[in-house]
Amino acid sequence: MIQTLEWTDQGVRFIDQTKLPTEETYVTCKTHAQVADVIRNMVVRGAPAIGVAAAMGIALGVRDSKAETVGDLKRDLDLICDNMSKTRPTAVNLFWAIRRMQEKFERLRVRPIAQIKQELVEESKRMHAEDIAANQAMGRHGATLMPAEGGVLTHCNAGALATAGYGTALGVIRAAVEQGKKIHVYADETRPFLQGSRLTAWELMKDGIPTTVISDNMAGAMMKQGKIAAIVVGADRIAANGDVANKIGTYTVAVLAKENGIPFYVAAPISTVDLACPDGDHIPIELRNPKEVTHIAGRQMVPDGVSIENPAFDVTPAKYVAAIITERGIAREPYQESLQRLAGAEAKVEV
Ligand code: MRU
Repeated sequence: MIQTLEWTDQGVRFIDQTKLPTEETYVTCKTHAQVADVIRNMVVRGAPAIGVAAAMGIALGVRDSKAETVGDLKRDLDLICDNMSKTRPTAVNLFWAIRRMQEKFERLRVRPIAQIKQELVEESKRMHAEDIAANQAMGRHGATLMPAEGGVLTHCNAGALATAGYGTALGVIRAAVEQGKKIHVYADETRPFLQGSRLTAWELMKDGIPTTVISDNMAGAMMKQGKIAAIVVGADRIAANGDVANKIGTYTVAVLAKENGIPFYVAAPISTVDLACPDGDHIPIELRNPKEVTHIAGRQMVPDGVSIENPAFDVTPAKYVAAIITERGIAREPYQESLQRLAGAEAKVEV
């Protein structure tokens, strides 16, 4: 099993996703500031994994705080959370995780400092376990939407590497394959960071799931040629009206899917649904370093001085989304109602 991130007594250990697929190496962060750095530098990435990483980073910072009063510990917690919140703006799971740790702290305030520290560590470990269970539940729901046989296209990496384990979109594919469905995955390479060719292909190869990598501009042709029966992607934030922010290029795939009559599904945990965000226009889109576009594997690919844009995410309007697969069930249009219902429902996920 792929260990994307885990709590250890020495610190939080991450598989270094910037080194995959050629090197499987691990880094252990010993401070909360180091955890913030690995989120920022995309050693760990993917919305649910960012959330769990932030929670573990916060737990690490609080555990190692020198504060002697609960008031001082709270001040340290706020500083740690503030630093963590500045790492990446789009994945709402980051802010969900920070809030959950802050709320846990508030409930523990009357307890001794040692106990508060221990309970926050336990809370972050619980979030890790819950994320895997949510992905497995999502897989069970989503597998029913997958074809018995055929090509399924995905964009970016919404797999074990983007979560605590199993994956959201790739979890749906994994569950369908476990049920005996004969799926062949088409993985968009996902420029500029290549999460599809480097990460999705790596983890599906490990599982022996047949996979073909295509460059992003090939997706439309594959759909037109009848090679794609369904599309499933993850999400970084889903607005209350069902608009979906996901890796740049997702919107293009969704529009092409509609044109070719192919269902376009989104798989994401309830923690990715942001009911406070009315629609996609209100989702902050991260702008990353132009060098990710200008250079490939260290080699410059564009002339000096040319203008570059590098938005890390785009927004797919809800009208292109056939269904949103969550751990609590499948939401369909009108999303305003179906998402509200699922978000308000009791969690039925067992850990
Ligand atoms: O920039 P990244 O690699 O963090 O972007 C990841 C994605 O866009 C994923 O599709 C999304 O976070 C869902 S991961 C289960």
